[in-house]
Amino acid sequence: MKEEIKLRKLRINDLESIMEFFPEKELLMNIGNDIPVNKITKTFEKKWLEKQIKNYKKKKPSEYQLAIDIDRKFAGVIGFNKIDFKNEQGVIGYWIGRLFRGKGYMTRALKILLKNSDKKFKLKRITANVFTYNPASGKVLEKCGFKIEGERRKIKKLDNKFVNDKVYSRIK
Ligand SMILES: CC(C)(COP(=O)(O)OP(=O)(O)OC[C@H]1O[C@@H](n2cnc3c(N)ncnc32)[C@H](O)[C@@H]1OP(=O)(O)O)[C@@H](O)C(=O)NCCC(=O)NCCS
Repeated sequence: MKEEIKLRKLRINDLESIMEFFPEKELLMNIGNDIPVNKITKTFEKKWLEKQIKNYKKKKPSEYQLAIDIDRKFAGVIGFNKIDFKNEQGVIGYWIGRLFRGKGYMTRALKILLKNSDKKFKLKRITANVFTYNPASGKVLEKCGFKIEGERRKIKKLDNKFVNDKVYSRIK
């Protein structure tokens, strides 16, 4: 039987699970987070979680992140890193724990996020920025109806190297 995937609001007790998966070099490089792995402490992540939980109370949050549960087990995070309500646009981001990758889960999670956010936020334009060394993420976006707009050169300096990314968008 197909595993059950649910998106739900983050809770403070997700902290332990986040700490199990999140401090991973490849994951951090892919999401463009250049904080050294050893700086991803429990205190740091707790602050991040508290910020997300506060955002749920806002009618127009500038950021909106959800937990991905697979068969009721926390597996990752997906959501909007930025929402600009005035221009009806948002930038999405996501990660899933190593154990869960390559099984089609993020494609399913993104489809759920889009379905829900079309109702909740009604955004015209949703974008995602994917480093060129992360083709799996580009594939997820393409399977969910995103198109490549172009490549941005030397967009960020990660691990002392300039990297390019591709901008993907979905217009409603
Ligand atoms: C990128 C990531 C989100 C993908 O999640 P996932 O659940 O493994 O994705 P899915 O299984 O739904 O789909 C991945 C697709 O990419 C394909 N893929 C995997 N590696 C690939 C590669 N090196 N080149 C091309 N395609 C690749 C898979 O075959 C699959 O496509 P298919 O269903 O047509 O076969 C996950 O690996 C992850 O969390 N990585 C770390 C964080 C991250 O990169 N976040 C995204 C930042 S933009």
